[in-house]
Amino acid sequence: MTGVFISFEGGDGTGKSTQIKILSERLRAAGREVVETREPGGSDGGEAIRALIVKGAKDRWSPLTEALLMYAARRDHLERTILPALERGAVVISDRFADSSMAYQGVAGGAGVENLKALHALVVGAHDPELTVILDAPAEDGLRRADASKGETRFEDKGAQFQRKVRQAYLDIAKAAPERCIVVDARGSVETVATRIAEAVRQRLPAVLS
Ligand code: TYD
Repeated sequence: MTGVFISFEGGDGTGKSTQIKILSERLRAAGREVVETREPGGSDGGEAIRALIVKGAKDRWSPLTEALLMYAARRDHLERTILPALERGAVVISDRFADSSMAYQGVAGGAGVENLKALHALVVGAHDPELTVILDAPAEDGLRRADASKGETRFEDKGAQFQRKVRQAYLDIAKAAPERCIVVDARGSVETVATRIAEAVRQRLPAVLS
């Protein structure tokens, strides 16, 4: 079996982690090895960098510094977790990947689309996901659901205006890369959204889920 890389994206509180668990179980039931991972994080080095990024004051890092940290964490995650799993033939499902950096740092944070593209070419190159599921919901819905209990509130703290820019950035990313991205309406019950995602995976990756 050949490895398959899937990423989930969306604003804060759009239900990514719940939906990743459901899809992972579906794929395991279909006989696949599934590696669930996340960004920032996903490897020892990535998780160490995550602690620097998600905690602390809102203006702790400039958007460009934040992007550099994200991409440092991403390179470690790719080298240590994602690429080895793909080589084994696993399905890798990452809760966020490079589109998060483009949306949060590049567009909403103002670090610049061209800077983010240059970083992407250097760090990720041809290792983009085969499928990116973008969970889409109004920013206000997500902020209400975002889990602030872990003390990881730097991004939620940035407010509704920021989250609206993030949402629009994701829609623009999807428009520019329709062969990789699918936008899924994140509103509705957990089961309804899970069904939408399963249909999208069946359609886009028939070798993974039939
Ligand atoms: P995450 O734990 O996925 O938060 P949530 O469950 O709210 O989606 O990610 C933590 C935060 O990091 C999230 O607000 C988005 C942000 N982030 C970036 O700004 N850039 C990035 O490249 C990544 C991967 C995440």
